[in-house]
Amino acid sequence: MNNSALKGYEPIVQMKTLELVEALSKRQKETIDISHWMGLFGFDIIGHVAFGHEFGLIKAGGDHDGLKHQVEGGIYAGAIISRTPWILPLLKQILPAMEGLKVMRQLGVTLTQERTKRGSTSKDLIYFLTEDENAVESRVTLDEIIADGLIALVAGSDSSAAVLSHFCYFMLRHPECAEQLHKEIDATFPPGEDPLNFSRHADMPYLNACINETLRLLPGVLGGLQRAVKRGSGDATVGPYVVPEGTQVSVHTFSLHRDPREFAPLPDHFWPDRWLAQDTYGLPSGATVDKAHVTTNRTAFIPFSVGPQNCAGKALAMVEMRAVVCAVMHKFELRKAEGYDLDLWEKDVMDVYLTIRGKLPVILEQRQGR
Ligand code: HEM
Repeated sequence: MNNSALKGYEPIVQMKTLELVEALSKRQKETIDISHWMGLFGFDIIGHVAFGHEFGLIKAGGDHDGLKHQVEGGIYAGAIISRTPWILPLLKQILPAMEGLKVMRQLGVTLTQERTKRGSTSKDLIYFLTEDENAVESRVTLDEIIADGLIALVAGSDSSAAVLSHFCYFMLRHPECAEQLHKEIDATFPPGEDPLNFSRHADMPYLNACINETLRLLPGVLGGLQRAVKRGSGDATVGPYVVPEGTQVSVHTFSLHRDPREFAPLPDHFWPDRWLAQDTYGLPSGATVDKAHVTTNRTAFIPFSVGPQNCAGKALAMVEMRAVVCAVMHKFELRKAEGYDLDLWEKDVMDVYLTIRGKLPVILEQRQGR
């Protein structure tokens, strides 16, 4: 997951983004669930990155083998167990509840075994674990490779997809932001230029402001993952608080990101401008405020967590999200489907480690000259 590995993943992101745009082009003017398509994209990417494997979900237009469904079942069961570990013996008695976890584990085993039999055809995660010159081959067991493959599948398949879906939701909710973003994309990539020129994405201030604002209001991992004070290690202190040994703690990312002490004004409002460096800021109401009255505490912005076990795929996730947003918005206008109530989107969001989300019915229309 370092920079040189990331360079190798860019052609995969490019190929899958083009596939996604092509699939969406074929469904123009139809009502489609854009969240479903983002899910297929995320899963296809991680198939290549982790296992050098083509799941083919975008091409099929759906979860044809039920693989995505299996992983989601496993995540759901894992979320219950991690929050209430004492329930495990009881859950073991109720087979269907544990089935999701078992099926997901088996999927990880099968994918890893198939991949190790096939050998490396690309520089995927398993290549870096076993064959790269810096690999720790002699120390990595098959079980560890399976565990790493599985965590990449779980952590990397639907997280970017959830954020990309939230992004589409915010664009529908705030057409003025979509318009401003279209302007920046058009200025960076005039008709005829390739919106998948990755080297330019990081320098598009409004694009990155909109992505940050999405990650702030609806981070892919809403609740933050747990840390524990090991039994036998004594009590720990976090700031002014004593945390007894054996206690799980986590920082609730969603709440921290909406804390008015860290993000003001309008902490609950989608206002990408807060991420831009300016002397004065125009508020959605039309009023202006001086920069002294805008607080954007970047150290309190932790969608990928912080510390030694933060998100291993952060750089890849940023590449994916910028690419999809640029390519989709370069080509299409996004409209809410007739009859869909946008208020449902945030109501349907559910924290299960990752995010379960509802449908986001939209209509895409090709922009003039694209
Ligand atoms: C927008 C998308 C994503 C978000 C918001 C996100 C967020 C997170 C968060 C909050 C954690 C928990 C870290 C902790 O416990 O402190 C995590 C872990 C992880 N993420 Fe991501 N992630 C995203 C995409 C990805 C992608 C594309 C991959 C690709 C493989 C990935 C791989 C991982 C892995 C392997 C871990 C476990 C790290 C460990 O325990 O050592 N993530 N992610």
